[in-house]
Amino acid sequence: MGELERFALVPLVELERAEDALPIADAFLAAGLPVMEIALRTPDALQAIEKLAAYSELLLGAGTVCTIAQAQRAAEAGAAFLVSPGFDRELVEWCLEWDMPILPGVATPSEAMAARALGLEVVKLFPAEALGGIRYLKALAAPFPGLRFVPTGGIALQQVSDYLALPQVYAVGGSFLCPRELLRSRSWDALRRLAEDALRSRR
Ligand code: 3PG
Repeated sequence: MGELERFALVPLVELERAEDALPIADAFLAAGLPVMEIALRTPDALQAIEKLAAYSELLLGAGTVCTIAQAQRAAEAGAAFLVSPGFDRELVEWCLEWDMPILPGVATPSEAMAARALGLEVVKLFPAEALGGIRYLKALAAPFPGLRFVPTGGIALQQVSDYLALPQVYAVGGSFLCPRELLRSRSWDALRRLAEDALRSRR
């Protein structure tokens, strides 16, 4: 998962059709952003992860992982990291036991403390913008030196550089990197250009 910091962007992909998985991956790879988080919120998500697992150059994650059973299925399908909207101690412990990198969501200091108590160094901040965005992130991070965040939720492309300017920010995630309209219209070139723009907008 260390590679996530290098690319600093985590496109959240909500796939309606498993057959779109490969063209989407091709668009991201062509842009130079070999990262995808497939949200486990559509019936085709696990099948898409299985297809994408063949792309060894892709840093492939499963998102919206809420249970250990989902974590197991995502790992079996080939996910290399997991993302959860919230903090579930048992889920995190399962991931630590099986050496599966996980970004659990935190929204409060108590959850950040729970994550730290388990030895985590990077967590997702969700829902980042609704919580108060950069101002909230700075306030939340202050008591936890060394803890890094992947803010996600309501973030737009124009905000990427401001988030990434904060040392506490490890990467920025969101569906803004893979908008539903582009998937529905199968606009793979536009998706590639969007990823290129996002990469250019980093610090
Ligand atoms: C998530 O699951 O991380 C969020 O739904 C992403 O939020 P966004 O769609 O507002 O980027």
